[in-house]
Formats: sequence, C-alpha cells, structure tokens
Amino acid sequence: MSTLLTVRDLVVEVPARNIKIIDGINFSLDSGQTLGLVGESGCGKSMTCYAVADMLPRGIARIGGSVTFEQDAGGGRATPKIAMIFQDPTSSLNPVHTIGYYLETALYRHQGLKGMDARMEAVRLLERVGIDRAASRLRAYPHQFSGGMNQRVMIAHALAAKPQLLIADEPTTALDVTMQAQILHLLEELKAETGMALMIVSHDLGVIARLADRAAVMYCGKIVETAPVAELLQRPAHPYARALIDCMPSIDPQDLDPPVPIPGSVPLLDSLPEGCHFHPRCLRASVECSAHFPASAAVGLAHEASCYHPVAA
Ligand SMILES: Nc1ncnc2c1ncn2[C@@H]1O[C@H](COP(=O)(O)OP(=O)(O)OP(=O)(O)O)[C@@H](O)[C@H]1O
Ligand code: SF4
Ligand SMILES: [Mg+2]
Repeated sequence: MSTLLTVRDLVVEVPARNIKIIDGINFSLDSGQTLGLVGESGCGKSMTCYAVADMLPRGIARIGGSVTFEQDAGGGRATPKIAMIFQDPTSSLNPVHTIGYYLETALYRHQGLKGMDARMEAVRLLERVGIDRAASRLRAYPHQFSGGMNQRVMIAHALAAKPQLLIADEPTTALDVTMQAQILHLLEELKAETGMALMIVSHDLGVIARLADRAAVMYCGKIVETAPVAELLQRPAHPYARALIDCMPSIDPQDLDPPVPIPGSVPLLDSLPEGCHFHPRCLRASVECSAHFPASAAVGLAHEASCYHPVAA
C-alpha cells in the first residue's frame, strides 16, 4: 500500500484570538487504510478533518505544518478526490432541493454526467447505498427521509465524486443503533469495493474498533497516542486513552466493572494547563508533567504515546 496522505506538524489557529486549535499533529494514511480519530468533545477531531480537506471555517487558519498527498509519477503532489460526510445528515442537506437534484448536480460536477445518464447513475448510487424504490425517491426532499436514509444519501453523494479519501465526521452519532450498524456495514463494504482510504471520527471506541486499522487519540488539539487499533484497545499507553476505554459501558453481563468516569473536563483552549494538558485530570501525574509537554515516543511496534509515565502493558 502506498501512502496517500501525510500530515506533518499541522497547526491550526483562530488568529483573531491567538488560540491554537490543532497543535503540531502528525499522522499518515495509506490507500485503502482507515484511520480513526477519537477523543472528547472539543479535542480538535473535526478541525483536523477540515484542515485535511482544506475547508477550514472562516476565521480559522492553518498557520503551520503541511498536508500532502501521494507523490505522483512526475514527482509533484497529486491531490486525491476527497469527500466528506457529516454528523447530522438532515441539516447537511439543503431542504429546498430534492435528493435527485442533489445527486445529479454532484454527478455533473464530478463525472460530467447530464440528463438521463445522471438520473440513471443517481438511481444506481441510491440502490448501492441500500435505498429501495430509488427511482421514485429522487423526487423526495430530505425532510421526507429518516436520518439513516439521509446519511445514506450523503454517502451516495460522496460516492458520486469517486473519492480516494472519504472523511466521515461522526457519521453515526445522530442515528439509532440499528441504523448505526447498517451505516457501518455499508462503509465497510464500500471500502472493500472501492479501495478508498477512510478517516473516521467518533466518540465511540466501538465504532473505531470496528472500522479502523489505526487509531489516533486526540486531546486539546494534540495526538497523544497512536497505534494499530487492536493494540490501542488492548494495551493503551497514555492514561487518557486508558481512561477513555475505562469509561466505555460494556454490554457483557459477565463484566461487572462499572464504567469509570474521567474526572474533570476538557480545559478551554485559551487557558490550557502548562506541560501535559491532561495533568489536572491524570492520576499518574508527577511534577514534571506540569512543567513540559512530553514528546511522543515509541511504546510498541507502530505505537507511540506522549506521556512521562505510560500505563504498563
Ligand atoms: N469558529 C470557531 N472559533 C473558535 N473556536 C472554534 C471554532 N470552531 C471550533 N472551535 C474550537 O476548536 C476546538 C476544536 O473543535 P472541533 O470541532 O474540532 O472539536 P471536536 O473534537 O470535533 O469536538 P466534537 O466531538 O464536539 O465534535 C474546540 O475547542 C472548539 O471550541
Ligand atoms: S504526561 Fe503525566 S499527566 Fe500527562 S498523561 Fe502522562 S502521566 Fe498523566
Ligand atoms: Mg466534531
């Protein structure tokens, strides 16, 4: 597999307020691979996605580092087709346009298809994402669809671009568990079919465990641990990653350990604690933890964490 995306020392700021939202993160993604981004609310997962897709909101800017894509044969950098799906499908679709208009416009823009060709391809895409009676559904508006159906429409819209990289920002958070399972299954199938790379954001480690090859744990705009997903779940090294796992509820009736909440809350970006930003919440913190931010270091094979006192395997 070749490296599709390389992110180096990425820094994203709100320049007007001199606040760093993303603070020097590094990761790479191979073609066909899935990277899961996990962390509490406000840790910078969505901004990482927007920075990769070069669609940061107004007032937020990339001020350092690089986002580069696979090296093309000529030695330049070829930008792959990137598509993005969002957490709340219904509010991401324009309520005044039909599903057909939405898909056919994308097919014209990305594949140059018009008229009957675009309509037939829109039907094929809707069928591919599991929407039945697809031809008649083209006349429907988003409010006539359920959240799960609208998320399928968003995925069909993304597929119209034939993306090499699909960024899915909390694609199942707004859905019930049955819909969630269906959407995850669909993403798995599409990945296998198309060979596209996937960046998936979720609060839910279960979603990351199911879809991702590698996971990156974010805290206050930094990646504090990254590893192959099974390794991360079985042998987390960073106390924050351990704490995220420990606060996951289990559905195993044999598992009598109650979820353990993480004390405190994520600090505000304009008043981050010195040193390791997790130290006020960390049971392993020592004096040095509040003095300097720990550098990222190898703690296993393809496994790195930024911590002075990693959790023992
Ligand atoms: N327009 C903005 N101006 C200033 N700060 C912002 C803006 N948008 C987001 N932020 C801040 O950037 C930080 C990262 O936000 P981001 O949306 O990436 O978090 P997240 O990890 O995706 O959270 P969630 O899980 O809630 O979606 C947050 O602290 C947020 O408050
Ligand atoms: S560096 Fe210190 S405070 Fe930060 S996670 Fe590791 S032990 Fe905890
Ligand atoms: Mg987000």
